[in-house]
Amino acid sequence: MHPHVEKILLDEAQIKERVLQLGQQISQDYKGESILMVGILKGAMIFLADLVRNIDVTTYFDFMAVSSYGAGTVSSGAVRILKDLDKSIEGRHVIIVEDIVDTGLTLQYLVENMKSRGPASLKICTLLDKPSRRKVDVQIDYNGFSIPDEFVVGYGLDYGEKYRNLPYIAVLKPEIYQV
Ligand code: PRP
Ligand code: MN
Ligand code: MG
Repeated sequence: MHPHVEKILLDEAQIKERVLQLGQQISQDYKGESILMVGILKGAMIFLADLVRNIDVTTYFDFMAVSSYGAGTVSSGAVRILKDLDKSIEGRHVIIVEDIVDTGLTLQYLVENMKSRGPASLKICTLLDKPSRRKVDVQIDYNGFSIPDEFVVGYGLDYGEKYRNLPYIAVLKPEIYQV
């Protein structure tokens, strides 16, 4: 275990099993269709990489990079596009892939933004949901785990851009979060 980690919330085996289930569910729901998975950088990259390997319908991917958190643990609410999609999503079956939905502000922005581009359908898939922190209502179609209100890192999620490479989801020791 990484020396900065206080406790592991979800270990590798738990994540792997749930990601497999989500992939199977998506494969079933989109049978005979092709899908465009839109990963939201940087947090969603590990989840997306594992998820698509469990999907057996024709799968494309594209990425958008947005940022609302900056360096801290609290969302600023102001979403900035750092990298836009490469191609049009008009007429496509799009699934937005996120690592975590917290206040919902990032996702609310993304859904509005993508809906205006005329996809055939638009769904949301997130590995983690923190419902107690929600500020705006967002409809999640595929959710890996609902978690309590603790700041988590690993499996793509960062604190100050660190810890994304941890293979599990963990809470850091309190002294690490202090500035
Ligand atoms: C995090 C996370 C989600 C978003 C969720 O991204 O990956 O995208 O915040 O928070 P919200 O529901 O309160 O809007 P962040 O802005 O930290 O960028 P990152 O993915 O590059 O870490
Ligand atoms: Mn993110
Ligand atoms: Mg972040």
